[in-house]
Amino acid sequence: MDAFSETASLDEAQLLSNPPPNFGYLLRTRREEAGLTIAALAAKAGLSRNTIVNLEQGLTTPSPQSLRRLASIKALRLLSVVNPERQQIGSWCTFAYDPLAMTRLMEAALNGPGGQVDQTYLYLDPKSAVDWHALSNNESYTLSYRSQVPLIKIAERIAKEAKGIGIDIDGLGCGDGKTETELILRLAERTTSDLQCYLLDISHVLLAEAYRTAINALAPKGIPVHPVHGDFHDIARNPMLYAHPETIQRLRVFLMMGGTFGNIRDEPWFFRDLAACAAPGDLAVLDVGTVRAPVDRPDQISQLDPAIKAKKPADIYHNFLSGPLYRHIQGCKSVRLRTELSVHCPIPGSYSIENWANVEKDYEPDRQFLVWRVKRYDVTKLSECLLSLGWKTLQSWQYGPDKSAAVILVQRQ
Ligand SMILES: C[S@@+](CC[C@H](N)C(=O)[O-])C[C@H]1O[C@@H](n2cnc3c(N)ncnc32)[C@H](O)[C@@H]1O
Repeated sequence: MDAFSETASLDEAQLLSNPPPNFGYLLRTRREEAGLTIAALAAKAGLSRNTIVNLEQGLTTPSPQSLRRLASIKALRLLSVVNPERQQIGSWCTFAYDPLAMTRLMEAALNGPGGQVDQTYLYLDPKSAVDWHALSNNESYTLSYRSQVPLIKIAERIAKEAKGIGIDIDGLGCGDGKTETELILRLAERTTSDLQCYLLDISHVLLAEAYRTAINALAPKGIPVHPVHGDFHDIARNPMLYAHPETIQRLRVFLMMGGTFGNIRDEPWFFRDLAACAAPGDLAVLDVGTVRAPVDRPDQISQLDPAIKAKKPADIYHNFLSGPLYRHIQGCKSVRLRTELSVHCPIPGSYSIENWANVEKDYEPDRQFLVWRVKRYDVTKLSECLLSLGWKTLQSWQYGPDKSAAVILVQRQ
């Protein structure tokens, strides 16, 4: 809470003590962009028409009281232009983020007897991030998924829910940040709300890439970008991602795009925490894979779900999934990957495709590691479960291969 409210009050203090020299021009441009007449703005701000006219024409300098009243009108977005250097600051490396410790834990797990490896580790080391980046920009993946996401519809819905107040977008597990940035650009075309972008990722390498992508596209539009190094499971320890300063009413949108949702360790646990962090009205936009057959029909799943049918992951996943094993397991001679169906999932009706690695070692028996789970959800049951945790489904759109392999859910707290 402290970091964010400090930023907000700093801006306000800065505006009051040091209004920009072109304040009149700025006020007029922002008023027109917000579709307000002079009379409407005067009424909203509780100032006279003459005061607004004089300020816009640069005939008078604004008093602290007028500035405070104008700054409180969100549609004018005055606070976002006060400090352009804010584009460069507001990057967080929180106490909870400890990649050294995570890497040591990964090495200990991979050199242990086998079993489940935390999925997050797959993205941790730089080569893993490079491999994920290559995979997520692969032509077939891009054509089947990334390019199909209904960004305009999502942007329209967020704009509608915001009703003109400022919007903070949290891209959780942002990867290279392309989808998140594209969505914010669409949103900026459809709202006069003040926008701010927060990007969180466990991978330093991917977060740096996302920051570059976002700042290049969003800074020219006056949208600040704040990179946050961290684990989304620790969201409650990252107040910059959820704080609602009392003085400024804003909408938070928690975004989980491109299959990031499938990386959540325990969905009910996570959404309980997220509900505690969110304020009423905040949104979660979730991109989730869908079941290809009912969970009690494994025979049908094996026939209809290509990832299970193939019995091993597609070649484009090979480097990403096996790379950390080759790099971190002592005496690793070879890695063979296979997929298995599991119905042991916390969300009713869902199943996961488990990617197991058989690791052949020098002088030791083979070890089995569960390295990655791809989750498929029954959308109705997922919605029911989220509702019981405080998240109501407002809208959903199916997309992806066959227009049904994935769904975007807009949830409201
Ligand atoms: C499947 S990718 C999706 C990336 C991006 N949102 C997109 O649409 O392409 C998942 C991303 O989440 C990140 N990630 C995985 N587990 C995480 C965690 N526990 N906390 C934060 N980020 C995580 C990974 O580093 C990766 O960038």
